[in-house]
Amino acid sequence: MREGRRTSITGELILVCLASLSIVPQLHHATSTEGSVNKLHTHGKTELGAEEQVKAHFNERGKMQGSEVRRQLATSACQTGNSIDDCWRCDSSWETNRQSLADCAIGFGKNAVGGKHGSLYVVTNDSDDDVVNPSYGTLRWAAIQTEPLWIIFSQDTSIALTQELIMNSYKTIDGRGYNVQISGGAGITIQGISNIIIHGIRMFNLVPTGPAMVRDSPAHYGHRLRSDGSAISIFAGTNVWLDHLYLSDCTTNLISAIEASTFITVSNSYFTNHDKVMLFGAHPEDTFDTVMQVTVAYNHFGTGLTQRMPRCRFGYFHVFNNDYLDWKMYAIGGSQNPTILSEGNRFKASDNNNSKEVTKRVADGGNDFGGWENWNWRSSDDMFLNGAFFQDSGSSNIDSSLYEKATSFSAKPSSHVETLTANAGPFQCGLGGYLSCDSGTPNTYGGSGGYGSSPGWYSAGMRNHNIPVQAVFLLLFSTLSVVCMFI
Ligand SMILES: *[C@@H]1O[C@H](CO)[C@@H](O)[C@H](O)[C@H]1NC(C)=O
Ligand SMILES: *[C@@H]1O[C@H](CO)[C@@H](O)[C@H](O)[C@H]1NC(C)=O
Repeated sequence: MREGRRTSITGELILVCLASLSIVPQLHHATSTEGSVNKLHTHGKTELGAEEQVKAHFNERGKMQGSEVRRQLATSACQTGNSIDDCWRCDSSWETNRQSLADCAIGFGKNAVGGKHGSLYVVTNDSDDDVVNPSYGTLRWAAIQTEPLWIIFSQDTSIALTQELIMNSYKTIDGRGYNVQISGGAGITIQGISNIIIHGIRMFNLVPTGPAMVRDSPAHYGHRLRSDGSAISIFAGTNVWLDHLYLSDCTTNLISAIEASTFITVSNSYFTNHDKVMLFGAHPEDTFDTVMQVTVAYNHFGTGLTQRMPRCRFGYFHVFNNDYLDWKMYAIGGSQNPTILSEGNRFKASDNNNSKEVTKRVADGGNDFGGWENWNWRSSDDMFLNGAFFQDSGSSNIDSSLYEKATSFSAKPSSHVETLTANAGPFQCGLGGYLSCDSGTPNTYGGSGGYGSSPGWYSAGMRNHNIPVQAVFLLLFSTLSVVCMFI
C-alpha cells in the first residue's frame, strides 16, 4: 500500500502564513493515517485531568445550573428549562455571537471548545469532488485545517461526501440558520483528535465508501480502508459535543465512540429509522474503554429505532432527560460491566409485549465481571409508559462513589422531558427565526427522512439570507490566509 505523498511545501507555507496571522493555536492532531489500517495508535489522550473533571461534575448534582453568566439571559419566554438552549437561544444577537454556543455545553463533553477563538469560515461550495485537494469554500477544506475554525454555511446546503470527512481538532460545524444536510455518501470521522462541536445538521442515507486516499490535514493524506456508513465515528477522540442533529437511515451506527474515546456529550438530537443507534466501546477486549465518560441528554429517540440507545462497554454513561418511543429490541444496553445512570428519562414502550424492557445485558463472549447482577445500572426518577420497565442491577445508591464517574449534570424531573426535547433536531427556522420559532412550534420531522426525501424543514419566522457584517469580515480574514498560501 502506498503512503500518501507529503505536500510538505504547501504545508510549510500554510504554517508560515498562519503564524503571520497569529492564529496558530496550540493543539495536537493526528499526525498520520497508516497505510493499511484505519487505527491510529493514540493514546486515549485526555487534555484535562480526568479526576478533576469528574469531581467537578459530580459536585454539580443538586446545584443550581443558573450560576453561569450566559445562563442568566433568562427573563424571556423562550426559556424552556433546557440548560443548553437557554444558554444561547434567547440572545437576539446569537448570529454575531455564534461562538458563545461553545460555552453552553453540559455533561462530560462540556469542555469541547470546537472552533472557539478561531476564524469564522463560510461553506459556499457543496461539492466534495476532490478529497485529496479540496477547494477553499468546501466543508472538507475547513475540516482538515490545523487552526481552530468555526464553520458556518452561506445558504441551505446539501453535501454528499465522496469519502469520510476526516476532521482535525478544534472545529465547530454550525448549521444554524440553514438547512444543512450530509446525505447520500460517507459520514464524519473524528479520529485521534479533540475539541469538536457539531450542531444543527441532518445526516441520513449514508453508505460505506472507500477504500481511498483521503486528506486529513493540510500536510498529509493517506490511504483509508472502507468506511462503514456510520454518521459520526469517534475513534480515540476526546472533548466532543454533538448537539441538535437529525440522524436516520445510515448503514452501521448513527454514532460510535471507540478506542478510548471520552468526554463526549450527545444532546438535543432527533433519532429515527435506524437499527443500531449509538455504540460506545467496540470489543470485549478493549479494556482501555474504561476511561470512557459519555453524556446522553435531551434527545428524542423516535420511531423506527431498534437498539443501542446507547450500547455501552466498560465506561461510565449518564443518560438523562431523553424521550424514548417504541424501541423495537431495547433502549439501553451493554456488556463488560459498564456503569449506567439513567435519570429523568421518559420511556414509552411499543405495544409489542416483547419490547417492554428498556435494558438489555448483551452476551459478547467476554468477561462478565461476576455476573450482570453486579453491574451498576440504575434508573432514578424515570417515567415508564405502556408497560416499559428498567431492570436495575448493582448498587442502588446513586450518590455513592460507584456512580460518581457516571454523574455529569443535574437531571430535571421526567415530567419535563416533553418540553426539554420539543426542539430536538436542528431548529427548523431560518436566520433570525429562533425567537419566532419558539415553543408551540415543536420540531416535527413528519417524513421518514428516507430515500430520496429530505427531512422536514420549514422557514417559520423571518428568513434572512444576509450574512452578518462580522461574518463577512471574518470571511475576508480567512480568505487572507488562503491567498497567503499561494504566495
Ligand atoms: C467547488 O469544489 C470543487 C471540488 O473541490 C471544485 O472542483 C470546484 O471548482 C469548486 N467550485 C467553485 C465555484 O469554487
Ligand atoms: C400482552 O400482554 C398483555 C398483558 O399481559 C396481555 O393481556 C396480552 O394478551 C398480550 N398480547 C399479546 C399479543 O401477547
